[in-house]
Amino acid sequence: MRDRIVKEISKHVQAYCEEINFSFSPGLIDIQRPPKEEMGDFALASAMRLAKVAKKPPIEIAKILTEKFRANNSIFSKIETVPPGFVNFYLNDSAITEELEKFFGKIGQMVKSDQKPLTVVVDYSAVNIAKQMHVGHIRSTIIGDILARVLEARGEKVIAQNHLGDWGLPIAKVLWKVSPILRDLEKNGKNPSEELPLAKLEGIYREANQACLENKEADDEVHKILIQLQNGDEKLLDDWKMVTRLSMNEIYRVYRLLDVKLTEEHERGESFYRGLLADTVTEISKSGKMVESQGAKCVFLSQFKTKDGSPLPIIVQKSDGGYNYDTFDLAAVRYRLRDLDADRIIYVTDARQSLHFSQLFALTEELGWNQKDGKKIPMEHVAFGSILGEDGKPLKTRSGENVKLADLLQEAIERSYSVVNEKNPELSDEKKREVAKFVGIGAVKYADLSQNRNNDYIFSFDRMLALNGNTAPYLQYAHARVCSIFRKGKIDESLIPSRPNCLAPVERRLSLKILQLPEIVRQVEVELRPHYLCTYLFELASIFANFYDECPILVASSESEKLSRLSLCKQVRDTISFGLGLLGIEAPQEM
Ligand code: ARG
Repeated sequence: MRDRIVKEISKHVQAYCEEINFSFSPGLIDIQRPPKEEMGDFALASAMRLAKVAKKPPIEIAKILTEKFRANNSIFSKIETVPPGFVNFYLNDSAITEELEKFFGKIGQMVKSDQKPLTVVVDYSAVNIAKQMHVGHIRSTIIGDILARVLEARGEKVIAQNHLGDWGLPIAKVLWKVSPILRDLEKNGKNPSEELPLAKLEGIYREANQACLENKEADDEVHKILIQLQNGDEKLLDDWKMVTRLSMNEIYRVYRLLDVKLTEEHERGESFYRGLLADTVTEISKSGKMVESQGAKCVFLSQFKTKDGSPLPIIVQKSDGGYNYDTFDLAAVRYRLRDLDADRIIYVTDARQSLHFSQLFALTEELGWNQKDGKKIPMEHVAFGSILGEDGKPLKTRSGENVKLADLLQEAIERSYSVVNEKNPELSDEKKREVAKFVGIGAVKYADLSQNRNNDYIFSFDRMLALNGNTAPYLQYAHARVCSIFRKGKIDESLIPSRPNCLAPVERRLSLKILQLPEIVRQVEVELRPHYLCTYLFELASIFANFYDECPILVASSESEKLSRLSLCKQVRDTISFGLGLLGIEAPQEM
């Protein structure tokens, strides 16, 4: 709808620009939503922008534009000029229903971008080997997956990259302890995947880490292993692979439970870049920007300072010749730009890594690596806040340990079972369990996605599972409610008209909301904020609830009214399930 209006309005603003000898640009078309419904469906604020160049007060320009818009227009029923220079537009019903008809059964096509597809690299999840996912990884995994889905729905080519922490000192520490255990298991013919679950590997890592802190011999031992590993010792590499697979197998179980699309083909861990690090450092050195500082190879960019104002380096290679987190990321950027031919790179990690990414992006730019066809390839850090417990402190179990995601999800599913059981006791137990899973997982994901990602949020089962409010169960319930109308009325969907023929005020509001979807999806793509979509779906479901209260559907006053309303119902159902699909959340038919 918005596109159509922009097109309609642009041609007149363009004509006006020609009259005043001013070159038109699409940025001049400033369309807003009026604060109140009575003020029209859309408002144009362009007169304010044109006032300076036209040397006229905005209200006069708005009046001139209004005259132009009014002449032979077919989509507005009323166009008004409002001080200080707005033009307010009221759509006529037939423009709305005509647009609805385009959406009918074709929502996926309506949200597609009309631009050439971009190759977008999305770096998300990025778990560390031999460690369980921590809360930061959960958010990265959920948010990243949804951004990938939205970009794909827009028609972009998405390349997901799971930048695993799978190389370097921590791995050497694990191997120091694990290699002997693996030998033992081999000797006794035991299966490592049974004997070494991720929790155990994590324990082993912690022990080894502690040992290195406490005694120098252990530390020396680990460093020896690191060198051997880096030099390609085959037995160590085998063990490393084994540890990686043992870890990832468990991580994939969580991904599947969360319905996250990452698979082995997306694994591009730090280890993937190990052969490219030296080259990366050489290239940076050739740029002349690298200096030696306290034995380390560094780049100092003037915008980065420590707290006391002294220059803050980006350490490209450590003084002992080793590489660090920055080096891996520099090598990865090069690969993504040159080999993957990225048009946009997105990193989904918690806000505490903001400085790291600012430095990485600044250096990439300084080196000119992200220049493509005279343009800069955008690199964006999708930062997010923490998940807090109900006490407002970082989420921990009662005994003070980090909360395990798998436990959290299990509890959500169990609690949902009770909700479903209460709401719909007639469902078969099998159905109840299936629905409970969709509701529980959906609730956890939605609670995360519906927040402005920059903020911390409090994890509360009661709130996320509430059937009222901006929650997944509320949306799922709205969806199931529409489905039940079709079931109860034994409606043959092929008889539903693609265009409704009557629009009561609440139906009009509902229709405009449905038509807003493409605008919202585009906004999510641009700003990388899934909560826009959540807010939208919540508003849609709320208007649907009003519609459902005010407008009898199956017992409408005439067959034509009934069909017209069913047409709206179908669009609501399809829009909610499409929207939930973009959020990676199931929309069951019954609940
Ligand atoms: N593995 C890292 C961590 O757990 C996150 C990596 C994010 N991606 C990146 N390219 N640096 O903190």
